[in-house]
Amino acid sequence: MDAAVDDDTTSTTSRTSRTARPCRTDARGLAVGTRSQAAVDHLEAALQAMLSYFGDPLAALDAATAEDPGWALPTTLKAGLLLTMGEHGPTLQARQLLRGGAEAAARGTERERAHAHAAAAAAAGDWEAACDAWEAILVRWPLDVAALLFAHLFDFYRGDALNLKRRPQRVLPHWADGLPLRGFVLGMLAFGLEESGHHAQAEDAGRAALAVNPRDPWAVHAVTHVFEMQGRHHDGARWLRSRHADWAVDNGFAFHQWFHAALFQMEALDTEGALATYDAHLAPATDMALQRVDGTAVLWRLKLLGVDVASRFDALRRTWSTQAPDAGFYAFNDLHALIALAGAGDVAALQSAGDSLLDALRSPASGGPTNRRMSAEVGLPLALAFTDHASGRWSDAARGLLRCRDRAHGFGGSHAQRDLLTLTLLDAAVRAGDRALARHVLHERFPAKAGTPLTALWLQRIGRLA
Ligand SMILES: [Fe+2]
Repeated sequence: MDAAVDDDTTSTTSRTSRTARPCRTDARGLAVGTRSQAAVDHLEAALQAMLSYFGDPLAALDAATAEDPGWALPTTLKAGLLLTMGEHGPTLQARQLLRGGAEAAARGTERERAHAHAAAAAAAGDWEAACDAWEAILVRWPLDVAALLFAHLFDFYRGDALNLKRRPQRVLPHWADGLPLRGFVLGMLAFGLEESGHHAQAEDAGRAALAVNPRDPWAVHAVTHVFEMQGRHHDGARWLRSRHADWAVDNGFAFHQWFHAALFQMEALDTEGALATYDAHLAPATDMALQRVDGTAVLWRLKLLGVDVASRFDALRRTWSTQAPDAGFYAFNDLHALIALAGAGDVAALQSAGDSLLDALRSPASGGPTNRRMSAEVGLPLALAFTDHASGRWSDAARGLLRCRDRAHGFGGSHAQRDLLTLTLLDAAVRAGDRALARHVLHERFPAKAGTPLTALWLQRIGRLA
């Protein structure tokens, strides 16, 4: 594929009259506001680490800053990366970095100033505006892989499947074969295709990404999702085992691939295996909300399968903060914190801490406009439904989940992650004795998963109601 002609990819200080600093170019020919090649090299290593989850991108960005303290882009990208963690603490750090680097950022190139503008929007909690700002960068500089990555991750947090697919599609014609980091663009495209339901194309794109760069966990993950969505749980488990060296060791994204491994095990009703996966790989990883979300989801699914996970839930719920400002930052996290409380079966804790989570969802204070919308439209209704479930009000829980589930993509996550809502709806319907509703919902699994042991178990449960 030929790179499209784009004069802007090597725009220089002539375009950016406010830029006092001389420019080099990065590995893709983009002008950068430093004359230090060592700083540029550290930034390239940071991009590689951000995209691959191997290595420490924050340390690499700090090293770039150390080489040229007057160059703002590494600090701006550090803020952007912290923001993509989707939680309050790192966002505070990002806000401080952006404030401290504002003067230097104003002396950057036009593209670098645009990055600072986008990061500021994300830091203010306006994730739509941030994605628009990163997109504006991509229109001018389609080889800006950091803008693509940040927008891609916030597309994920916003449940914007269309742009998960289209953003990589829009820039890909500019990426010539052999251009450094091109494989990661294919990996992002693969995930966007999968979340948009184009499973065969997604698998092809993911495998193409891995042909360029085998150690691309995001591409491994995209193909893993294809197996999940197609009900190919044995193939999926084999896939993860066969690519183990590419994602599992010393990789910052490994926890989430273990989440998928546990899903494959549960689809096969290998609950012992899933529990072992949780104990070995998810229970120890609770520093980030992203990790706690996955651990919580695996335990909840095991609980729905009748496995006693109360003691594990009791340990896990203590890793969640249920108070503002951690609560009220991102509705997707808040719901999982509440599920952890519910899973522990501690009614008193659910009533006290659960109330503070519900309050945070009613009046989210620490996120921003995007989270306020998510909380009102999705997070709060779902949290109330899970509270009903935890309190044994099965019909209310089923009704609440049914009402909200179809718009739940609005608070982000993947189809595979949000399947938790459907499984909980099934459980509530069965416990409510509502055979018609349970069958009705279970039929959704038939096109891809009619023959799996997990579907057979639900059929048995529903059959017993008759
Ligand atoms: Fe996933």
